[in-house]
Amino acid sequence: MPLENSPICFIGAGAMGTAMMAGLIKRNLVPPTNIIASDPSSEQLAKLQALYPVTTTHDNAAAVQNRDIVVLSIKPQTLAKVGAELQGKIPADALVISILAGATISGISRKLGHERVVRVMPNTPALVGKGISVWTHTKMVSELQKQQTKTILHALGEEVYVEDEDYLDMATALSGSGPAYVFLFMESLVDAGVHMGFSRRVAEQLVYQTVDGSVEYARQSKTHLAELRNMVTSPGGTTAAALYQFNKGGFRTVISKGIWAAYQKSRYLGSLDNNE
Ligand SMILES: NC(=O)c1ccc[n+]([C@@H]2O[C@H](COP(=O)([O-])OP(=O)(O)OC[C@H]3O[C@@H](n4cnc5c(N)ncnc54)[C@H](OP(=O)(O)O)[C@@H]3O)[C@@H](O)[C@H]2O)c1
Repeated sequence: MPLENSPICFIGAGAMGTAMMAGLIKRNLVPPTNIIASDPSSEQLAKLQALYPVTTTHDNAAAVQNRDIVVLSIKPQTLAKVGAELQGKIPADALVISILAGATISGISRKLGHERVVRVMPNTPALVGKGISVWTHTKMVSELQKQQTKTILHALGEEVYVEDEDYLDMATALSGSGPAYVFLFMESLVDAGVHMGFSRRVAEQLVYQTVDGSVEYARQSKTHLAELRNMVTSPGGTTAAALYQFNKGGFRTVISKGIWAAYQKSRYLGSLDNNE
């Protein structure tokens, strides 16, 4: 067990930090007694302690003492302040795992004065254990620490390791922001259902199960998505009529442009972080 006997600390006990702690505890990967969570909000810490018997504190510097793993689960705008508090306090051979959107490895290393850093791009389905996390690390990260990272990320869903940090900007645009695109698509389908005359409740049921079932079917059939789409598209039929309008409206182009814009934005925000 790569996490056995490795005390972990979470700086930030908000939605993502709590989801990670919950996943680790529920899967018996880390005993709650090995976890300390630091957060300025007493309310947040009380909520966490009502669920799991972890140790809590408001003192970030005290929380990282003697820890093997430090998870940064604060908002990116808090990093400079937290970095100043933690400078020289994290044990040199400890692993820092950052899930902060847009915070680059060099920015995190510099702000914390720490070299063993993993940068992760998670997404919000992680809150129900169905996330996808894309991650990379600095050269100083050991083989054991890579295994520990994988185990921690499995508590949030699936994980994909990439060698180059540029892929994290791509992942930000595709899977990080992805749930927003999917929700917008689903919302548009529900609205179209209501427009035709379904109640919102029934339209939602049809759309949720259609999306869920389509994903499961695509995974299990291992067939190219275009082929699966063709199987539903009879010549001159109803689906063909809808797809014709989608194409005419620039459906694929607008999605491609949107994701490219998100990728460029992520690169730009990363360059600001590196120059700070
Ligand atoms: N790719 C994605 O879609 C995605 C999804 C989720 C999260 N993320 C990343 O995950 C990170 C956490 O997000 P979240 O949704 O969990 O945010 P959140 O719920 O706001 O959690 C952040 C926590 O940090 C606490 N905090 C504020 N200042 C602090 C300090 N100085 N020291 C310690 N803790 C402090 C906050 O307390 P207060 O409430 O009192 O301020 C809050 O409880 C973000 O950096 C975000 O970029 C990415």
